[in-house]
Amino acid sequence: MVVGIHRPSVLTIDLKAIQYNIKEAIKLLANQVQLFMVVKANAYGHGLVETANAAKQAGATGFCVAILDEALELRESGISDPILVLGITSPTDAKLMARNEIAASVGSLDWLVQANKNLQAESKPLLVHLALDTGMGRIGFRESNDLLQAYKFLEEQPQFIFDGIFTHFSTADMKDDQYFKKQLAKWHQLISTLPKLPRFVHISNSATTLWHHPLEGVNMVRYGAAGYGLNPSGTELEPPFELHPAMSLSSELVFTKQIKKGDSVGYGATYTAQHDEFVGTIPIGYADGYRRNLDGFYVLIDGQKCDILGRICMDQIMVRLPKDYLPGQQVVLVGKSGNQEITLQQLADHCQTNHYEIACGFAERLTKKYLH
Ligand SMILES: Cc1ncc(COP(=O)(O)O)c(C=O)c1O
Repeated sequence: MVVGIHRPSVLTIDLKAIQYNIKEAIKLLANQVQLFMVVKANAYGHGLVETANAAKQAGATGFCVAILDEALELRESGISDPILVLGITSPTDAKLMARNEIAASVGSLDWLVQANKNLQAESKPLLVHLALDTGMGRIGFRESNDLLQAYKFLEEQPQFIFDGIFTHFSTADMKDDQYFKKQLAKWHQLISTLPKLPRFVHISNSATTLWHHPLEGVNMVRYGAAGYGLNPSGTELEPPFELHPAMSLSSELVFTKQIKKGDSVGYGATYTAQHDEFVGTIPIGYADGYRRNLDGFYVLIDGQKCDILGRICMDQIMVRLPKDYLPGQQVVLVGKSGNQEITLQQLADHCQTNHYEIACGFAERLTKKYLH
């Protein structure tokens, strides 16, 4: 991947903000509850290894990723703490995971049987976290009998260590907690069938951590969005502490000009000036994850809102300038400028999506600057 270091568009990641959001969450948790930082999808776009190291310093004792490659990247960077792959891996990779002490999420006996065949000659056992589907409808055991069979298989086979058990809530970020309670009841019903619980018992994402703790029997949380300063509920619920956003996006004007009344801007000539006006061009576009449906949105220059004119191009956008700025003028696309601020939530609202998607959608082409 080519990273653009010879242009002024930069994603700035404030690692201190991530550390603050982690430390505050740890204060909310009972002493025996560990915090695993969820660093999947390049740490929600914030940078996998840099985020993991900062999170570790702030008190995270393990990591969750979505795919095996992310876990391997963490191991390669020297991280030796527990890592759990939250998604379903291939049983043919069981040996690779065992060798690297990477825990697998497992939702069926069949997966264990397949993995067992691949582990026969392996000296290290595979760490397994059993996933329970209590209502998310994504992965995991749904019935006590199936769960018990898997448990027995794990107990009988020395190639496995039953290391964790978990579920995932689908509505922990909503005011209405009816469905959350239903899932919680199902969780208790399912785990009550097991003679013994493993080392890690975990059911909390950020929303559950912020709004539903303490929770009986839970000794680890999987903390993602809130760690990056993103309110997992959007704006529905108030967090118990002020979340500090870690990501900002800035650039510079690289070209400025005056256009005349009647002149058009951008592909499709969708914008036509009603007056003579100053226009600036910024070197960022949808290939950087600055999405095409951000047309009609704005950027900040000198604390002033500047409307995006016409369509977002692949690599450039044009904005209306309040005066005749020169190339080199600083532009804020996410973050603070004077008294104004653009949040990822605002971008998400404009695009009718959530801030998770905006954050992890920024492309690798955008160079990152880390504030330590
Ligand atoms: C299984 C699981 N646990 C935890 C998380 C972290 O969620 P959040 O980012 O809302 O904290 C996710 C993220 O989607 C997940 O899929």
